[in-house]
Amino acid sequence: MSTSSSSSTSSSLDLDSLPYLNPSHDRRIAFITGGNSGLGFYTVLQLYLHGYTIYIAGRSKSRCINSIKELKNKATEIRSKYSSQELNERFLGDLRFLEIDFSNLNSILTAVENFKKLEDNLHILINNAGAMALPYTLTTDKFEIQLQTNFVSPLVLTTKLLPILEKTKDKFPKLPTPRIIYLSSFGHLFALKYFSLTNDLNYSPNFIFTWVRYGMAKVAGIHFMKMLTLRNPKVLFITVHPGLIMNTNLFAYWTRLPMVGIMFWCLFHIFGYFFGVTSKEGANVVIQCSLDPNLTVENDNGKYFGPDGNESQPSLIASNMDYAARTWIWTVHELSKRGITIPNP
Ligand SMILES: NC(=O)c1ccc[n+]([C@@H]2O[C@H](COP(=O)([O-])OP(=O)(O)OC[C@H]3O[C@@H](n4cnc5c(N)ncnc54)[C@H](OP(=O)(O)O)[C@@H]3O)[C@@H](O)[C@H]2O)c1
Repeated sequence: MSTSSSSSTSSSLDLDSLPYLNPSHDRRIAFITGGNSGLGFYTVLQLYLHGYTIYIAGRSKSRCINSIKELKNKATEIRSKYSSQELNERFLGDLRFLEIDFSNLNSILTAVENFKKLEDNLHILINNAGAMALPYTLTTDKFEIQLQTNFVSPLVLTTKLLPILEKTKDKFPKLPTPRIIYLSSFGHLFALKYFSLTNDLNYSPNFIFTWVRYGMAKVAGIHFMKMLTLRNPKVLFITVHPGLIMNTNLFAYWTRLPMVGIMFWCLFHIFGYFFGVTSKEGANVVIQCSLDPNLTVENDNGKYFGPDGNESQPSLIASNMDYAARTWIWTVHELSKRGITIPNP
């Protein structure tokens, strides 16, 4: 990956320098998918410590409720180390659960309707939920599982929530621009060429082509974010690559395989030791992009940030706007066949 550092998030991954809100007179809302685990967990923790009301959208109520308990305990532990001045200036936000299953498009539409009944505003949407290197499976909506989880579902969720972010901008023009963050991956480089999404890459051996499917889904994710930057100046669209984080549940399919799982576990941990970062470190760039008030539509829309908080460049395939348009058209058409209308960017 090329790593041209033409710009960086202003506070260079210093989370304390990001604004702390007092929710009793500045209530701001964040919506994160998959906030119960891995990078999402640490992202939620910091947003909570910075005073945000966060909707943790997940498919398992019990896992999300348990993680809310754990997040509250961690926040209490962190705040116990604050000075009295810090305690007077920093306020906790709120944590809420919202049911969503990215392998079922109806569940996304229901989640959006439920969210609208609860909130009028949305300041930050973080498309964090993802799945990696799974065996070939079709969802109930007849998309390949990785394509739907990493790309189609985030696109549907984003386009359905976008009007709320736009209205939030109109209502609070002086606040930092509402923003949408999408977690792509270094793994988007596994797509060595542009594959038409009609080709669901169901080839053998799975242990190779599953990575290509992941790569293509993450390329398509970058594409849809690029297409949405064309849409309007009211919302900021940022894509991030958080680094290699080997100790999240993303690798669970491989490490839980009977017999060979332990071998993969060792392999991933050795790899992580040399090249990886922790979940906490990986989440930092997501938190920066979510909270940095200096990121603007004029200067930063459509950028791709790497794990060090610097602007980076995704692959040529991911950056190509003709491919991005093809991805968009294919997806809008497929969704329309399934009864879901997506407005043009
Ligand atoms: N780890 C890395 O090295 C790395 C590198 C680059 C990019 N990323 C990206 O970072 C994001 C977070 O990954 P992570 O490493 O933190 O992995 P993780 O711990 O496995 O977290 C993934 C989250 O996505 C949720 N999720 C998966 N399928 C879902 C579905 N069908 N519906 C709703 N939620 C679903 C999971 O929920 P459950 O708990 O219910 O399974 C979990 O909360 C992903 O988009 C990943 O592609 C990760």
